[in-house]
Amino acid sequence: MPKKLIIANWKLNPTTIKDAKKLASLISVKAKNKVVLCPPAVYLSQINYPNLGAQDCFWQDKGAYTGQVSPLQLKDLKIKYCIIGHSELRAIGENDSMINFKLRTLLQHKIIPVLCVGFGTTVEQEDMEVVDVLRAQLEAGLKDVDASKIVVAYEPVWAIGTGKTATPEHAEKIGIFIKAKYGIKTVLYGGSVNASNAREFLQQRNVGGLLVGGASLIAKEFNQIINI
Ligand code: 13P
Repeated sequence: MPKKLIIANWKLNPTTIKDAKKLASLISVKAKNKVVLCPPAVYLSQINYPNLGAQDCFWQDKGAYTGQVSPLQLKDLKIKYCIIGHSELRAIGENDSMINFKLRTLLQHKIIPVLCVGFGTTVEQEDMEVVDVLRAQLEAGLKDVDASKIVVAYEPVWAIGTGKTATPEHAEKIGIFIKAKYGIKTVLYGGSVNASNAREFLQQRNVGGLLVGGASLIAKEFNQIINI
């Protein structure tokens, strides 16, 4: 199996720097796959790991923007990746044009954006509807952006934190669609990935890796995933 990209999205966890450092220290640095840890932004400067990513950032470098994280600040900390457009942020008001601004700014600073797309509150929604929504999200998000420099993470909303996953075949189909239609080189799958189901996703040729939430907070389990 070729090396894949596995990204840990710690979300708003853990709640102390001590626990964050401890978790990072337990993650294998010589895994079989390429690994990126995305801790909360407040911890980024203090976590030691070969590849770090942010969970979001603003589209302006500096100025009167209270509470924001600047891509220039990320660059200064040598952060290589930044998740953008996660459904948990879209749910509280982030829209496609904000996402597009963020992607453009990150690329200017040579930080690789990990654009999250996904849709659907139920498993039953037809593939066709999914593709329609993905198309809208990708077309708006990628406007005037060099798509070949972006990683896309496909995360069906109903699969996030629920213990339910898409089928590996569905993830493969979406991977093929996004790569062929938008010139994206790497498409990840995310949504309730754990040590028991990760392998079947990684075995799909057009699933370039994984975006892992809950299971990335359990060092032993995450180490199993990244060493598949
Ligand atoms: P879970 O792995 O906890 O379902 O979260 C997925 C996710 O949202 C990663 O960004």
